[in-house]
Amino acid sequence: MNKIIISPSILSADFMNLENEIKAVQEAGADWIHIDVMDGHFVPNISIGVPVLKSIRKKTEMFLDTHLMIENPQNYIEAFAKAGADLITFHYEACQESINETIDLIKSFNKKVGVSIKPKTDVSVLFPYIDSIDLALIMTVEPGFGGQEFIHDCALKIPQLKEKCSENFIIQVDGGINNLTAKICTSLGANSLVAGSYIYNSKDYKKSIEMLN
Ligand code: DX5
Ligand code: ZN
Repeated sequence: MNKIIISPSILSADFMNLENEIKAVQEAGADWIHIDVMDGHFVPNISIGVPVLKSIRKKTEMFLDTHLMIENPQNYIEAFAKAGADLITFHYEACQESINETIDLIKSFNKKVGVSIKPKTDVSVLFPYIDSIDLALIMTVEPGFGGQEFIHDCALKIPQLKEKCSENFIIQVDGGINNLTAKICTSLGANSLVAGSYIYNSKDYKKSIEMLN
């Protein structure tokens, strides 16, 4: 069985102690670090942006999985790429007219590319882009906040996507992931899990990450 890429979302970390919070999940077995960027327009919440990503980059070698929940992501790709993102995932709903241009722009900075869909978006919208991207992110909650409940119906998109893509394509899920929902998603074909509150609200990060695997 292929390895599952575990990407803890620092949205639920202690921001006053971010360097240690990142080191702690790294030592606990995390593969990537998931960075949630929210603009208060595409989602009804504001989180962190370019300067924070830049500071994180200076302190860690870990793969930075950057999830842009922002309108007009194409206007910010250069800034996030130069700040040190390794993968930039943007939302299909945020720039429907310029998906290909945004994919090409991310690639022009030699970064990996992800496209994400919200719970109400049909998975088939991603099919035309599968061959030109590295990852598809299926949101299993409405984007905007950590700690929400997993929407089971969204997991049904995983096998639909799996059917269309190659072995090494990354199908990532994000939202409400815990030891139980992780198993649902991986058994349906997901090979990357984002988890915020399940990991960062636990006392033992190592144990929580093991439970996701
Ligand atoms: C939500 C973010 C998630 C969030 C997940 O919009 O994209 O990455 O941190 O949090 P949990 O794992 O607590 O649902
Ligand atoms: Zn996210």
